[in-house]
Amino acid sequence: MQNYKDVLAEILIDTETLQARIKELGAQISVDYPDGNLLLICILRGGVPFMVDLSRNITSPHMVDFMAVSSYGAGKRESSGSARVTLDLQTDIHDKNVILVEDIVDSGHTISSVLHMLETRQPKSLKVCTLLDKPERREAEVPIHYLGFSIPNKFVFGYGLDLDEYYRNLPFVGVVDLDKYKPPL
Ligand code: IMP
Ligand code: MG
Repeated sequence: MQNYKDVLAEILIDTETLQARIKELGAQISVDYPDGNLLLICILRGGVPFMVDLSRNITSPHMVDFMAVSSYGAGKRESSGSARVTLDLQTDIHDKNVILVEDIVDSGHTISSVLHMLETRQPKSLKVCTLLDKPERREAEVPIHYLGFSIPNKFVFGYGLDLDEYYRNLPFVGVVDLDKYKPPL
């Protein structure tokens, strides 16, 4: 795999800007849910860095859990149709305040089908917190209650977002230079 520097067109959101916004989101969630009974659900794998930093910035008591979904009929960089749960929660969400934590809402299909599925378990409340939003790409309507950044329709990587499973560790969000990128065999 190439070094990230060879495929980076530009840094879209730098580390300082990311962390400052996540601090604000954590403060807002702490005010909105002062009394606990809060569960953050991280959608694997892209949501991990965001959820960890967000959780550290929430001062009210809360739990965390994880789920993984894969979308039907999806190409490698596309998502379409509904999502299938490949790893379910350990936590019973009945009567809990739930916040779904995602890296990015793109077409909206993933979050939309996860929301429908979780509604059937009757949480007390169900909200969406996403680091990034690409509104130009939306196909399924999704309510976003907490948003980090709205971004243009460009393929991005870093801070949880992958390029063929690499570069999730980078502490910033970068734009891919598709002319320079050579996918691994
Ligand atoms: P949606 O169902 O189209 O909203 O898909 C969302 C998922 O697609 C995200 O959770 C990401 O895993 C992936 N995705 C969408 N856009 C990007 C991107 O620009 N970079 C990396 N992954 C992306
Ligand atoms: Mg994801």
